[in-house]
Amino acid sequence: MTDISPSEKDIRTFQQKIFQFYKENKRDLPWRKTTDSYKILVSEFMLQQTQVSRVIEYYTRWMNAWPTVKSLAIESYKKVLNAWMGLGYNRRAMYLHNTTKVIVDEFHGDVLTAVKHYEKLPGIGLYTSKAIQIFADNADIATVDTNIRRIFISEFDLDESISDKDLFTLAKQCLPSGKSRDWHNALMDYGALHLTSRKTGIKPKTQQSNFQGSDRQIRGRILRLLLKEDQSAYQLQKELKVESERLSKILNKMVDEKTVGKTNKNYHVPH
Ligand code: ADE
Repeated sequence: MTDISPSEKDIRTFQQKIFQFYKENKRDLPWRKTTDSYKILVSEFMLQQTQVSRVIEYYTRWMNAWPTVKSLAIESYKKVLNAWMGLGYNRRAMYLHNTTKVIVDEFHGDVLTAVKHYEKLPGIGLYTSKAIQIFADNADIATVDTNIRRIFISEFDLDESISDKDLFTLAKQCLPSGKSRDWHNALMDYGALHLTSRKTGIKPKTQQSNFQGSDRQIRGRILRLLLKEDQSAYQLQKELKVESERLSKILNKMVDEKTVGKTNKNYHVPH
């Protein structure tokens, strides 16, 4: 382990810089106007792998349709998926829906308690669990996403190969106690608006694959067709014009993951 501990003074200077930037450039985002843990949960699901500008419209519509965790948990999956379409990475819709069911059934609808047991919640890992506690409850904990990682590497002149563990140690040292919500919002704004990947040349650890012609794109097109009506593999193939072996593989995988169901020859969106 490399010694990455900055001095107290370095940390204070860094905090002041980030908060000063935030004061002058704060983004007005709809999920920042609430501390409702369900709403924060939805925003964090949507923000995984999707740009803020695209999420805003979906988030706003979502809250009109399903303003509480219970209202979403009792909704049909078909309607939930339909509202998600266009955001991409559609498995998130199923995970979010199933997560709200677990929260209602096993945690009496208490999102904040549930996310502390995130291993029971599909689609929620350590990062999302912490982000929800931070933004909903101002919890004194640190989290590191791709933007925050880039800021630390750039500001403290670290090697890009730094381990998550070391980054996390640094993140905890830099966290201003009692101000976790503002601090993380400020870091995210600094990373998104100022210290961008393009400016720093620091690449995310995992990058999205190309969408055009990908299995991911075909999966999305399959779901769109199935949202209209159930279809056989033959019908899907005629519509999608994908090589049948490739289509079978994709369909089998979707059935395995339960993102689609199959009865006899027909595929359908699960109920
Ligand atoms: N990315 C993940 N969570 C975010 C948030 N709360 N605000 C902006 N970008 C984010």
